Amino acid sequence: MKQLTDDHVLFINASQNRNGNTARIGKQLITTPHYQQLNLVDYKIYQIGQAFSDDQFAEVVDQIQQASHLILGTPVYWHAMSGCLKVLLERLSQMDNPEKISVFVQDADPSETEGPTKNIVRRFTNVLGMDYQEI
Ligand SMILES: Cc1cc2nc3c(=O)[nH]c(=O)nc-3n(C[C@H](O)[C@H](O)[C@H](O)COP(=O)(O)O)c2cc1C
Repeated sequence: MKQLTDDHVLFINASQNRNGNTARIGKQLITTPHYQQLNLVDYKIYQIGQAFSDDQFAEVVDQIQQASHLILGTPVYWHAMSGCLKVLLERLSQMDNPEKISVFVQDADPSETEGPTKNIVRRFTNVLGMDYQEI
């Protein structure tokens, strides 16, 4: 994996754990001193199409739109990206997003899930006119 040194990096930790393996690997990969970590577990982000008054998606979007590089980190949950990351991507597809996006996937052996997850994020960036940066 390449190490990243961009300036306005927002790391989105899509794990149920704020300081678990995903956060730990994020720290190893992201070498820029000023990156911020957003833990999806701290926000209520309802499924696309749902409309509940306590939805916090807008708070997450505010932080995302201040970043120039969004780094998504997800554990493998049942051979796929975590559900909270999938919901986030579905909802972000209706928004303006940062210039650049990267994703990493982790578990004991993420090889089966890494390719499909990266393909989804690569396709997402293509459709929305963003750059995909491999890590
Ligand atoms: C609901 C759930 C499903 C999981 N599914 C898989 C899986 O399919 N394959 C795998 O290797 N690990 C699986 N794991 C293990 C996690 O991917 C692994 O422990 C990961 O490092 C957890 O990251 P975290 O510390 O950031 O939460 C699963 C864990 C949970 C909680």
